[in-house]
Amino acid sequence: MLNGEKCIERPLRWGMIGGGRTGQVGYKHRTAALRDNTAYQLVCGAFDLDAERGKAFGKNLSVDEDRLYADYLTLIAEESQRADGVEVVSIATPNFTHFDITKACLEAGIHVICEKPLFFTVAECDVIAKLASDKGLIVGVTYGFTGHPLVHQMAAMVKRGLLGDIRIVDMQYTHGFNSDDDRHAGEAMKWRTNPATAGPTFVLGDIGTHLYYLSEVVLPELTIDKLLCDRKAFIPSRAPLEDHATVLMHYNNGARGRLWVSSVNAGNMGSQRYRFVGSKASIEWSDTHPDQLIYEVQGQPNQILHHGMPYLEDEALAVDRMGALHTEGLGDSWANIYLWIAQAIDAKQRGDEGFLNSHHYPGIEAGTDGVRWLENCVRSADNGSAWVNFE
Ligand code: NAI
Repeated sequence: MLNGEKCIERPLRWGMIGGGRTGQVGYKHRTAALRDNTAYQLVCGAFDLDAERGKAFGKNLSVDEDRLYADYLTLIAEESQRADGVEVVSIATPNFTHFDITKACLEAGIHVICEKPLFFTVAECDVIAKLASDKGLIVGVTYGFTGHPLVHQMAAMVKRGLLGDIRIVDMQYTHGFNSDDDRHAGEAMKWRTNPATAGPTFVLGDIGTHLYYLSEVVLPELTIDKLLCDRKAFIPSRAPLEDHATVLMHYNNGARGRLWVSSVNAGNMGSQRYRFVGSKASIEWSDTHPDQLIYEVQGQPNQILHHGMPYLEDEALAVDRMGALHTEGLGDSWANIYLWIAQAIDAKQRGDEGFLNSHHYPGIEAGTDGVRWLENCVRSADNGSAWVNFE
């Protein structure tokens, strides 16, 4: 169980780029990083494209005024001059800015935690992976729910063979918030539907990458041989990007996968749902009831496993925060991801490659895998939804 006691020697000096007052995801980063004051300490920020609003916001977060910067380049330049300069920066800005900001931070010797989809292309991911490796720095990626104890319960059950051979992977992340057209769209929606600012996808990158990475965590032995992606913009102004897509996948072990992402699932308040089916049993988990994991063994009564209970696998109990009586949710999951990235940065700083080799956290490979999956989806969709070999 995690209870906030220190897991690294001292908190990391942490800053934010983006995630300002009007940003959608910024608070999730802060609630995650600052959950344990033993892991991170917020020391600086360039929170907003609007410099004055960003500074006013940072002041309200109690960040020292002389460490609130007008833009990220000034943040990097000024912090690099300080003996107590920032050690790790989180990037919570629109997709098209991720690559330039990450590169500039790494070149200045600053570790990075970046939002997904990480970059536009695998080629960009490779550039950053090499730069991070050359500089001895960590790049973490925030796939929000993959820190949840029941996700790690699912992974442990698969690893222990409780499901048997994996046959079917069924995943859905949908909501209905974009069912109407974009006449009244806010900033966050405007950049999401423009290929210049969102990249080659909308919902596939925005929510589909969460599904894909979570499936990698639960099923690390499975890789995709080929896939077929069908995507569509039900609101025509969003084309060539999609507000709805289905992806079929063939895995290396013969398993079959089906994934549905949509932001025009009218009336749906937003949910991710995962069902992993094996030759003996199935497990199903959804963020609408994150405390519960459905475990169905063929020929036996169905079971509901509850987070925090002693009958769970050690891997799940080790990362539980709230205990079984209380809800374990998205904020707790994010806090775990941030903690694991802090441990990776700390190990990197100490030169402890042994720890890093056995430490699980969403890093540059996880970010790259998401971008690679998107590239394959787009290649299929743009070829008339043809089956394509996964490259
Ligand atoms: P948003 O448009 O709501 O907010 C973006 C924020 O970044 C704003 O505060 C804006 O002023 C600031 N900003 C933009 N350019 C900047 C720059 N050059 N320097 C400093 N600040 C800048 O966007 P949203 O929805 O918060 O998404 C941001 C990123 O987070 C995207 O990559 C998105 O895909 C990702 N995201 C991830 C989620 C997750 O669960 N991991 C959930 C929501 C978004």
